[in-house]
Amino acid sequence: EERLAAIRALPKVELHLHLEGAAPPAFIRGLAQEKSVRLDGIFAGNGSYAYTDFGHFLEVYEAATSVLKSPEDYARLVTAVLEESAANGVLYSETFLSPDFCGGGDLGAWRDYLHAMREAAEAAERDIGITLRGIVTCIRHFGPEKAKRAALCAAETAGDWLVGFGMAGDENRGSPRDFAYSFDMAREAGLKLTCHAGEWRGPREVAEAIDDLRVARIGHGVRSIEDLALVDKIVENGIVLEVCPGSNVTLGVYPKLSAHPIEKLRERGVKVTVSTDDPPFFHTSMADEYEALARVFGWDEEVFAEIARTSAEAAFCDEETRAALL
Ligand code: ADE
Ligand code: ZN
Repeated sequence: EERLAAIRALPKVELHLHLEGAAPPAFIRGLAQEKSVRLDGIFAGNGSYAYTDFGHFLEVYEAATSVLKSPEDYARLVTAVLEESAANGVLYSETFLSPDFCGGGDLGAWRDYLHAMREAAEAAERDIGITLRGIVTCIRHFGPEKAKRAALCAAETAGDWLVGFGMAGDENRGSPRDFAYSFDMAREAGLKLTCHAGEWRGPREVAEAIDDLRVARIGHGVRSIEDLALVDKIVENGIVLEVCPGSNVTLGVYPKLSAHPIEKLRERGVKVTVSTDDPPFFHTSMADEYEALARVFGWDEEVFAEIARTSAEAAFCDEETRAALL
């Protein structure tokens, strides 16, 4: 219908996207073939990624990522991902980049990967008008020592393009404060901070990320709704949630979108934004997310304009880049 087509086409800002998690399965299969790498058991019969639960999702993610072996591979991936995002009306995107996957935590290798990704992003900006900025992310289940190497890579390459530091991975392992050293290093280098929390574990995890890592944004954070005092604190502190509704439903955090707390959080005054997380893994796109929110919660163009404004204000880029989005 016309209303939904208009909503799908709205200009968008996406703040929570994992670069490898945005790789189309055909792209990964193509690279595997080129390199004669065997990728057994990560694809379903219809060619999409196949996994059973969150733990298995992380394994399939890492298996798919194993065919990305050079800066050139990552440059090609950036180009493919930005073309898809631009086709979804995304004007500005922040993407999680991981030194653990890009050179194994080695600073020299990371510089080469980053350079290649940035060049591909700048070409896409010239050619199709989409802007990308990078957020280095450490991987929680790789542990605090690897996180320190990722943070060092981030600190050494921080600037106008590499703008943030964060943490993804298995929230069920360890605790945020184990990573405080890395977040302190990143903060001292001038990077803005975000951390996955409140996706698998409850409100205490979100509180710990806010108190111990002093993040400006939380990846997901949706289970904060289980503690309304925490929700009030999130509002008071202006913490922004990077909400990925389709991801949460596909991974089973919530049984269906109508049971998702995004609308309750928004009604209570939380700054919520909308992202896809790992779109091909979750059979979603930014246009699909917008359409589903319009259908299930009746969000209209005014609500989406508010979401876009919140997202632009929460972006980690410089003021001039932000101003172009507002
Ligand atoms: N890495 C990629 N997607 C993720 C998610 N939804 N949660 C934690 N780590 C991730
Ligand atoms: Zn994520």
